[in-house]
Amino acid sequence: MKVTVSLIKADVGSVAGHAVVAEEIKAIAEENLKEAVKDGKIIDFRVFNAGDDLELLMTHRKGVDSEEIHGLAWEIFKKCAERAKELKLYGAGQDLLKDAFSGNVRGLGPGVAEMEFTERKAEPFVALMMDKTEPGAFNLPIFRIFADPFNTAGLVIDPSMHSGFVFEIWDVLEHKRVFMRSPEELYSILALIGAKSRFVIKRVYPKPGKLPTDEPVAVVSTEKLYQVAGEYVGKDDPVAIVRAQSGLPAVGEILEAFAFPHLVSGWMRGSHNGPIMPVPFKYAKCTRFDGPPRCIAAGFQICNGKLIGPVDLFDDPAFDYARQKANEIAEYMRRHGPFEPHRLSAEEMEYTTLPKVFESLKGRFERI
Ligand code: F6R
Ligand code: MG
Ligand code: MG
Repeated sequence: MKVTVSLIKADVGSVAGHAVVAEEIKAIAEENLKEAVKDGKIIDFRVFNAGDDLELLMTHRKGVDSEEIHGLAWEIFKKCAERAKELKLYGAGQDLLKDAFSGNVRGLGPGVAEMEFTERKAEPFVALMMDKTEPGAFNLPIFRIFADPFNTAGLVIDPSMHSGFVFEIWDVLEHKRVFMRSPEELYSILALIGAKSRFVIKRVYPKPGKLPTDEPVAVVSTEKLYQVAGEYVGKDDPVAIVRAQSGLPAVGEILEAFAFPHLVSGWMRGSHNGPIMPVPFKYAKCTRFDGPPRCIAAGFQICNGKLIGPVDLFDDPAFDYARQKANEIAEYMRRHGPFEPHRLSAEEMEYTTLPKVFESLKGRFERI
């Protein structure tokens, strides 16, 4: 029987600036999701926060893009935002950009990663949630998990993974997509996804073999807030779901991709390059210069739609080195202050508040 896992998130307001979701707000989400289980709308749920983002992880049988499930998430975000406004939390309702719900939260502000698949005999998956960065931050780790034999030993050793995977890549500016095969088209895939603010990995599919080729094995939220709002309203703080084991990358191969704290764009005012730091849930709290950007990983088994977990997967000294490295890189990048490449390139800054500053200087320029 097929199960759907939906991870829907929004920044509905936070405490001490953009640091964390208030406990009271998470409690509202939990109460409402408990009711939804009682009403038979969903099978199970967990609520997380990745920094200032409220994350609703739900399992159900309604498929992707279900009006009922998206409507449920939307109503919960609205209730949370109302309470956040009463409490004068920071940025209350910031990601609820449009008012009219018409069947789907896409294009309204929240981010969505969801997939429907046939539950295997044992079904492990990892929910990855980032704060203070953008969907393209997942390009490098997802590529390494599913296409890099130096990361994922299974690509070399396991006959059921040896033929590789298919990547669905979106051009988020032109609103187009392309399906590309790895390893056959490895270099072309990299030609695209290296430009991570424009080309983002949306889904990964298995090739013909043990698993159905039309059921994704990984999915990333790719919503672009500035495209919804028409102006800078913060970065998109992406989430992803990655299935694991038995012909797919092992949980440890998924996590291995985060042992290298690569540079992502986001951080302070969504305008700086910095390292992404893999952290335990308790450190999902952006502090230094509103960062550095963070990623948490929640591991689960699914049993008939019920969730067993989470396991706080980055809560492990094995990731201390990555965190220390991230701190070194953060320090190095910070010393550049307002200079590129710490500050994003002029092209990417177009979607921030900087053009307004340029505008005010326009009349001061004279010909040379
Ligand atoms: C980054 C982020 C923060 C804010 C910064 C300024 O995504 O959310 O770094 O951009 O704290 O916030 P405002 O403009 O709300 O004072
Ligand atoms: Mg915020
Ligand atoms: Mg955020």
